[in-house]
Amino acid sequence: MNIYKEINNLYEFIREQKKKGRSAGLVPTMGALHEGHLTLIKRCRAENDICIVSIFVNPAQFGPNEDYTRYPRPLERDQNLLCGLADVLFLPEAGSFYLPEHCTWVNSDKNADILCGAYRPGHFQGVLTIVLKLFNVTMPDRAYFGKKDYQQYFLINSMCRDLNLPVSVIPCDLIRDSDGLAMSSRNIYLDPDQRKRALALSSALGHAQKLVRQGEINAGKILAAVENMLLEKNLKIDYTEIRNKLTLEACTKIDINSILLSAVYVDHIRLIDNIELAGMEKT
Ligand code: PAJ
Repeated sequence: MNIYKEINNLYEFIREQKKKGRSAGLVPTMGALHEGHLTLIKRCRAENDICIVSIFVNPAQFGPNEDYTRYPRPLERDQNLLCGLADVLFLPEAGSFYLPEHCTWVNSDKNADILCGAYRPGHFQGVLTIVLKLFNVTMPDRAYFGKKDYQQYFLINSMCRDLNLPVSVIPCDLIRDSDGLAMSSRNIYLDPDQRKRALALSSALGHAQKLVRQGEINAGKILAAVENMLLEKNLKIDYTEIRNKLTLEACTKIDINSILLSAVYVDHIRLIDNIELAGMEKT
């Protein structure tokens, strides 16, 4: 695996590969890799001649009171996990990737201020900007994003469509631990008791899917049941919403495209999860 910290060196390498007609896939990450990330990386490797992984804890997508400084950075462990899987690891440094004079940002007029965007102002501006920068440096044919961060995937896909970026955005399934908890780099913040309480989130989403399978189509009733389960475990709810997965419009009646999305706090730890209500996925 080649490791690049300098943009120019990576840029040269990629141009060489492109001249040879090789396809490139990119998996952007913030590191602290887990099986969710590795699933994306394995797929990227299988579908492209070269598999590029980036690790960059992007300051621009963290709010002032969020966990940017304490976000886990187990770089050596991550590098070992990537050996044999990634061809290229791009490791930009915050100081040189964002120059002090940086003043250009990517924004979405639609769907960036709902769900997580309503609670994390500026978050998606930071995400879209870094993803476009990573696309520009690595020039991937395909880029892989997890449906764990469904709104993020949705907005990146919209950006590629709207700005005519020559990148196929590939959505990948949400990966869960065996107990149902959606894998996340932030799960290491949970102590054993908090982790038990956190399971209420995936259980509540699983319950919602069960209600739909039993014929319930009233979104309000489903959300009330979900919220009860979350509050019972003393989780603080940022949002629980049912929306159309193709448009992110709110829906009141369940149909084939309904997705339930939620963000909760277990004490001070924020977790997100979602489930496609008419899908086959089990929590
Ligand atoms: P990060 O949280 O490290 O996630 C990197 C990628 O892995 C994202 O596409 C995310 O959706 C995916 N992922 C994380 N957990 C997953 C799970 N349990 N199942 C499936 N996929 C999962 O998302 C980011 O970083 C950043 O916002 C980034 C896109 C890198 C921009 O900074």
